[in-house]
Amino acid sequence: MASDPAGPTGPPRAAWHAGQADPATTDPGIVDHSGGELGPLTSSARTPEERALGRKRVMRFSATERVLHATNGVAFLLLLLTGLALFLPFVAQLFGNRPVVKAVHLAVAALWLTAILLTAILGDRRVLRRTRVQFESLSAEDLRWLRSSAARARPQGKFNGGQKFHAVLQGALTFLFFLSGTFMYLGERNTDFRFPGTIALHDFAMVFATIFVIGHIYIAFSPKAVDSLSGMVDGTVPASYAAEHHPRWNPDDDPITPTPKPGPLRTVLAAVVLVAGIVGAFLLAGG
Ligand code: HEM
Repeated sequence: MASDPAGPTGPPRAAWHAGQADPATTDPGIVDHSGGELGPLTSSARTPEERALGRKRVMRFSATERVLHATNGVAFLLLLLTGLALFLPFVAQLFGNRPVVKAVHLAVAALWLTAILLTAILGDRRVLRRTRVQFESLSAEDLRWLRSSAARARPQGKFNGGQKFHAVLQGALTFLFFLSGTFMYLGERNTDFRFPGTIALHDFAMVFATIFVIGHIYIAFSPKAVDSLSGMVDGTVPASYAAEHHPRWNPDDDPITPTPKPGPLRTVLAAVVLVAGIVGAFLLAGG
């Protein structure tokens, strides 16, 4: 179920945290990692309810989403470093050997695609589909979030307008990277695959994606959002953070259950994709 049933202008869904402030709750969506022993995690907590809320943690991201996020981040940084070395002659000189840098660039691209496919085959596809639908629910109100502080002050669902926009944009840019990169590779071997603007598209995607990734990292480490970082590490965030930044998100609407074990068919498919990906990476690296 999408986490925004009330729509972007609907009322805050604060009831979940107010009603579940009891530390003894057995709700699987709420995890108290402190076992009730630690003090409040938020300095602003004053009432017992606020303190209980500060200790509680809610599941925000599944293992599948965290693995996908981590592989995307590592692959992007490696491709950016090697891409810059291909793009800027003085960086290439630092590495000393352009063909080696190019081989690493292509091998990482092949392994990135392999990792994405493996996540889709072995991971929790129900959760991935749900998150994709939430990102794609980008509305006019969400876009207003980008330009108006009044819109930013309105209660947000699981993802705010900036997060949705960033996810959709990076998804589109990733597709453009693979598309333009594939044509650059094929165009070197067969002139039928050479199209004007392919390299410019790859470079444009690099500049654009890098600006947004820098913004993404800056916001993630800003004092306001730093509580959200654990969401991408152990999957949980403080309930107080969720209540403050995403009051219209009810974690009960987005239950995170253990990833189902893949059946024999998916296991075989994953093995085939893994072998093909590794062989492909070697072949691309070898020229
Ligand atoms: C995702 C799949 C990708 C593929 C298949 C791919 C493929 C390629 C290929 C074939 C080249 C040409 C190498 C050469 O002959 O010099 C290249 C260059 C380059 N790539 Fe990628 N790449 C991908 C992703 C990325 C990413 C994520 C970035 C940066 C964030 C990036 C940045 C660059 C840059 C800056 C160049 C140099 C272009 C130029 O010389 O103007 N690439 N890439």
